[in-house]
Amino acid sequence: MSIIKFKANKDKCTLCGQCAADCPANIIAMTDNGPRVAPENEALCYKCQHCLAVCPTGAASVLGLDPVDSTLLAGTFPTAVQLESLIKGRRSVRRYKDEDLSPEFIRHLLATALHAPSGRNVRKVLFTVIDNRATLAKFRAKALEGLARVAREGKLPPGMERFADFPVLWETKKVDVLFRGAPHLVVASAPKDCASPLQDCVIALSYFELLAQTQGVGTVWDGLAKWVIGDILPGLRLELKIPEDHLIGYAMVFGKPAVKYSRTVQHGPANIVTVDLHA
Ligand SMILES: Cc1cc2nc3c(=O)[nH]c(=O)nc-3n(C[C@H](O)[C@H](O)[C@H](O)COP(=O)(O)O)c2cc1C
Repeated sequence: MSIIKFKANKDKCTLCGQCAADCPANIIAMTDNGPRVAPENEALCYKCQHCLAVCPTGAASVLGLDPVDSTLLAGTFPTAVQLESLIKGRRSVRRYKDEDLSPEFIRHLLATALHAPSGRNVRKVLFTVIDNRATLAKFRAKALEGLARVAREGKLPPGMERFADFPVLWETKKVDVLFRGAPHLVVASAPKDCASPLQDCVIALSYFELLAQTQGVGTVWDGLAKWVIGDILPGLRLELKIPEDHLIGYAMVFGKPAVKYSRTVQHGPANIVTVDLHA
């Protein structure tokens, strides 16, 4: 019984060999009967689906997937100008509308972001999400209560004493420094024992951020939320039910922006060093 179910549809396969050439594990061999994976090599499969993706005629399938269910790519990528404008025009949004995004839409964005690359293609990133303002309000209240208690007990880490102001700012001015007034929170975590948990989380959140901003959703990387959830108030991590064996990669808040940016910023010069070993 095949584990990876690699197949090439005889009616569609042109024997071009692209699936074999592109396989990063080098386990697809071209035979007179088309491409094959020897049973003893199946365990080496990365499950990356490159064979399915590269096949020009949609003949190759793996893991029981039907190539017909993939999106055809010709002409669908954003142009270089569009992508450059997205990268330069994305902003950290700290003003939000008092509106929830739909849970289905949030799921769609996150599910798409999980197509991001991950070390050894394990794709173990978990997105823990608060998808409504009512829950975020409760979570914020717990976070601020906890922060006020830790501050009263003199237990804020050195250099972070000013964070004792956050509960006061919220109480007196409704300024939400922790979550920036956003309606939604996502925390990316991954099992500590996978190849690159931190990198996998950060890459997945980066993809989420860019995709979100193309769809009118503002985002901001939230180091303060990560800090309270991951380091200062373990009770918050329990509330979110983030698995014990997970490393918290990062937190991000997001929602419909109440601000519109008209132009890019102008960063630079870039720090780039080229190395020439031919001299
Ligand atoms: C790892 C990381 C942590 C951040 N933490 C916070 C934060 O806790 N609160 C916040 O308002 N912005 C946070 N930011 C956003 C940066 O402050 C922001 O990128 C910077 O102000 C530049 O603005 P721009 O993102 O609009 O270019 C964080 C950004 C990164 C990459």
